[in-house]
Amino acid sequence: MKPHGLMCPNILSFISSLLLLSHGVALAAENHEKFLKCLSLQSDTISEVLYTQNNASYSSVLKASIQNLIFSTPANPKPLFIITPFHVSEIQAAVKCSKKNGLQIRVRSGGHDHEGLSSISDVPFIIIDLINFSEISVDVEDKTAWVESGATVGQLNYRIAEKSQNLLAFPVGTCPSVGVGGHFSGGGYGALLRKYGAAADHIVDAHMIDVKGRFLNRESMGEDLFWAIRGGGGASFGIIVSWKINLVAVPSTVTVFAVPRTLEQNATKLLNKWQYIADRVHEDLFISPFLFRENSTMVSLFTSLFLGGVDRLLRLMQDSFPELGLTKEDCKEMTFVESIVYLDGFEIRESIDMDVLRGRNFPKRPFIGKADYLTEPIPEEAFQGIYDIFFEQDQKTNGLLVFFPYGGKISEISESEIPYPHRAGNIYTLLYYAEWGQEAIDDAYQRHVNMLRTLFNYMTPYVAKNPRTAYINYRDLDIGTNNKLGHTSVQEASVWGKKYFKNNFYRLVHVKTMVDPENFFRNEQSIPPFNLVKDEL
Ligand code: FDA
Repeated sequence: MKPHGLMCPNILSFISSLLLLSHGVALAAENHEKFLKCLSLQSDTISEVLYTQNNASYSSVLKASIQNLIFSTPANPKPLFIITPFHVSEIQAAVKCSKKNGLQIRVRSGGHDHEGLSSISDVPFIIIDLINFSEISVDVEDKTAWVESGATVGQLNYRIAEKSQNLLAFPVGTCPSVGVGGHFSGGGYGALLRKYGAAADHIVDAHMIDVKGRFLNRESMGEDLFWAIRGGGGASFGIIVSWKINLVAVPSTVTVFAVPRTLEQNATKLLNKWQYIADRVHEDLFISPFLFRENSTMVSLFTSLFLGGVDRLLRLMQDSFPELGLTKEDCKEMTFVESIVYLDGFEIRESIDMDVLRGRNFPKRPFIGKADYLTEPIPEEAFQGIYDIFFEQDQKTNGLLVFFPYGGKISEISESEIPYPHRAGNIYTLLYYAEWGQEAIDDAYQRHVNMLRTLFNYMTPYVAKNPRTAYINYRDLDIGTNNKLGHTSVQEASVWGKKYFKNNFYRLVHVKTMVDPENFFRNEQSIPPFNLVKDEL
C-alpha cells in the first residue's frame, strides 16, 4: 500500500485531469456547434442531409453501407455527424467546415473497405456518404458513361447492358455490390482483366472536390492529380464525385462454368497445371480457382468466364487445359450481365434475378482478407502445406483462397501508367479470405485472423518479394500504418506504400504534397505529404 503523502499528488492530478477532460468535452461541444453553424452558413440544403447522433435515423444511416459487420458493433468509434449529400455544394460545405473545425472526413461510397476505413476512425470525424450520388448516364454511340461514385459496380454494368443491348460493359470486380468510388480509386479488376485490364485503366475524366472545397475536372485538377486518383486510393486526395469512363465491347453471348474437383479427383495436379496456363491462355478466357476445405477433403472450384460461345470455349480448353475434363454440360451460355450474377454465386438459375444488380440490399457479414501477387508457380508439393493449415482448423473455422489469373491486357500496360503497378511478371493474385455467419464476431474474429496469418506466413517463400506486393483495394493494415497523429514521414509510409504502389508511391507523395500539403485528407494508410522536418533526416 502506498503512503498517504504519495497519494495526494495523484489525487490532485486526477482532479486536474478531470477538469481538463471536462474542459476538453466543453471545447469539443463548442467546436461541434461551430461546425454546424459553419455548415448552415455554407449550404441552404445541408439540414436535409445531415444526421447528428441524436437523430432517429443516425444509426440506420450509419449501418446502411457498412458491408463488413466487424465494423458495425457498438464498440466501434462513431462519426459525430453523417452527411448524405445530393448536391456538390453540400460536399464543398462539409470539406470547408471540417477543415476549419478540426474534424476528419471519412468518405464512403459502397462501404466495402476491408479494414472499415470509410466508416470508422480513432479521431473525431464525420462521414460523407455518397449513397445519393449514384447516377449513371451511358452514351452508347460514344461508348462512354458518366457514373457517380455512390453507384455500385453491379448497377453500372446493369445500366450499360440495358442501354447497349448487352454489347458494352465495364471491367470491374466480381462482387456487384462494391462501390464505384472506392473501387475505381484503388484500381479495380474482375473477370475482364485479361481482356481489358483494370477499371482505372479506362477512366478519361473525373469530377472531384479538393481540400479547398473547389470543384475540379480533369482539366482543372491537372494530369498529376488525375493520375493519382486512378489507383492511388481516392481518400488521400479529395472526394471524387463522378467518373467518365470508356466502355468496352462484349459479345452478345458469353459462357460460364464452375467445376469442382476434390483431392481425390486430382485437385492438386489440376491447380498446379492451372498455374502454368492461367496467364497464357487466350485473353477471352478467365479461369479463377477457389480453394477451400469441405469436410475431410479440399475442393478446388474452377470458375470461369469466357467471352464467346461454348463450342469455341471447349476447343480452347481442349488445347490448353484438357486435364480439367470440361464438358458441354458443365457450361452455360448467357449474356455478360447475367454472368455477373452467376460469378457472384456460381449458381445456374433458370432466370437470373437482375434485382441483385439493380439494388443495394446485399447480404452483409463479417469478413477479413489479405492478398499476394505471384510471379512464379507454387511448387506442386507446397500445396500440401496449405491443405495442412486448413485441416488444422476446428470445424467452425474455414477460409478460402481465390486465385485470380493475370496475363493479357492487365500485364501489357506499363507499371507507371496509373498508380496501380502490378503488371507484367505477375502470373496471378492470391486472395486469402474468410467470412462467417451466425457466430459472435469477437469469438470468430481471432480464429479466422490467425488462420489467414498462418497461411500468409506459409506463403512467404512463394510470393512476390522485394517488396512483397499488395493491393490497396484488398486493404490490409497488417502491412503497416501511418502514425495516428498524422505526422508520418515518407520513409515510414513507404513500408506499406511501396507494397501497394511500388515506385509509384513516390509520385503519389509528390502529388499529395502539391494538393494537400497539410495532410487534411488522411487515414491509417493515406499517402503522406513530403514533410520538411522528418523527411530531410
Ligand atoms: P468504401 O466506401 O469502403 O471505400 C473504400 C476506400 O475508398 C475508403 O478509404 C474510402 O474512404 C475511399 N473512398 C470511397 N469513395 C471515395 C470517393 N468517392 N472519393 C475518395 N475516396 C473514396 N476488388 C477488386 O478489385 N476486385 C474484386 O473482384 C473485388 N471483390 C470484392 C468482394 C468483396 C466481398 C469485397 C468486400 C471487396 C471486393 N473488392 C474487390 C475490393 C473493393 O474493390 C474495395 O474494397 C473497394 O475499395 C470498395 O469500394 P467501396 O466504395 O465499396 O468502399
